[in-house]
Amino acid sequence: MRTATALAAAVWAGAVAALPTQTRSTTLPSSWKWVSTGPLVFPKNDERNIAGIKDPTAVLINGTYHVFASTAKSEGYNMVYFNFTDFAEANNAPFYYLDQAPLGYGYRAAPQVFYFEPHKLWYLVYQNGNAAYSTNPDINDPSKWTAPEVFYPNGMPKIIADNIGNGYWVDMWVVCDDEEDPNKALCHLFSSDDNGHLYRSQTTLAQFPRGMSEPEIVLQDTQNIYALWEAACIYRIKGAEGTQKYLLLVEAIGQEGHRYFRSWTSDRIDGQWIPLADTEANPWAGEANVVFEGQKWTKSISHGEVIRTLTDQTLTLDLSEPIQFLYQGVDPNAQTEYNALPWRLGLITQVL
Ligand SMILES: *[C@@H]1O[C@H](CO)[C@@H](O)[C@H](O)[C@H]1NC(C)=O
Ligand SMILES: *[C@@H]1O[C@H](CO)[C@@H](O)[C@H](O)[C@H]1NC(C)=O
Repeated sequence: MRTATALAAAVWAGAVAALPTQTRSTTLPSSWKWVSTGPLVFPKNDERNIAGIKDPTAVLINGTYHVFASTAKSEGYNMVYFNFTDFAEANNAPFYYLDQAPLGYGYRAAPQVFYFEPHKLWYLVYQNGNAAYSTNPDINDPSKWTAPEVFYPNGMPKIIADNIGNGYWVDMWVVCDDEEDPNKALCHLFSSDDNGHLYRSQTTLAQFPRGMSEPEIVLQDTQNIYALWEAACIYRIKGAEGTQKYLLLVEAIGQEGHRYFRSWTSDRIDGQWIPLADTEANPWAGEANVVFEGQKWTKSISHGEVIRTLTDQTLTLDLSEPIQFLYQGVDPNAQTEYNALPWRLGLITQVL
């Protein structure tokens, strides 16, 4: 009796212990909850006179966070790199402004960083009027980022020119298939137009970064362009199967002008996207589901990225730890022209 009870208890405890781990490691919730820090990274008080720091992309390697972000002011955009080992110290990290590297001076914004395994190179993908990239063999040495090259040598593709209206061509994102054969695996390039369209081009892993196809429209909302605005991220979920294999996030502008993220899932990067948490009331992340550790300093959860510990071109997330998303937020009372808004970086952590 006693043995049987102990055994049953052990089995039960084992099942309970096993369940959350399994659930956590592969299943995406249809309703999300987050806790946010206050603003963590500010523009420096230096001769650059940056108004806002924006659009972060971040990886965590050997205990060091590497962050690339846009720097914004009325005169225009560029990018910055910095690193730190602890978020409490993030604002003390020296800024390496990337115009000091061969990547150069002028309009460059909205970076995405990943390691392209076949080339043994880091890629930084960004917008410069085209969809651009620079490479670097060593993420620790920001002075090595190469001069921009573009994915579309003939300029803005026709389908984008035909659909962009009064929008802007922004927020390029590369993600490659999880498939070994370099002639079968595809690398996909997403972009947005601030006019209700999400586009995707493709090339093979073998040909990347060359050979991007004419884009096609992946998602569109021509009734409400604000619902499908910009800043798309596509991630592979480690260990997930079926329609939960890939996660798509797109930033939207809500009823009162605040930013939030919608989400979809799919079995393929070039497959059908099925809504997950995709409304302002039940967003992936937004005012509706983020609580703040201290003062609520922003009503926008805007352009950002999940902090990746797996850094290759498959953009894989390991859900065995809560997701951490580095984002841009802004004082809701700030009133100035768009490029001069005082954006700061904050961090939301998933509440399981
Ligand atoms: C991380 O540490 C390993 C082992 O020391 C090293 O081989 C690797 O180059 C490091 N990665 C980076 C990006 O510094
Ligand atoms: C951190 O950034 C500085 C440039 O500001 C660079 O020299 C250094 O190598 C980086 N550290 C690591 C661990 O990557």
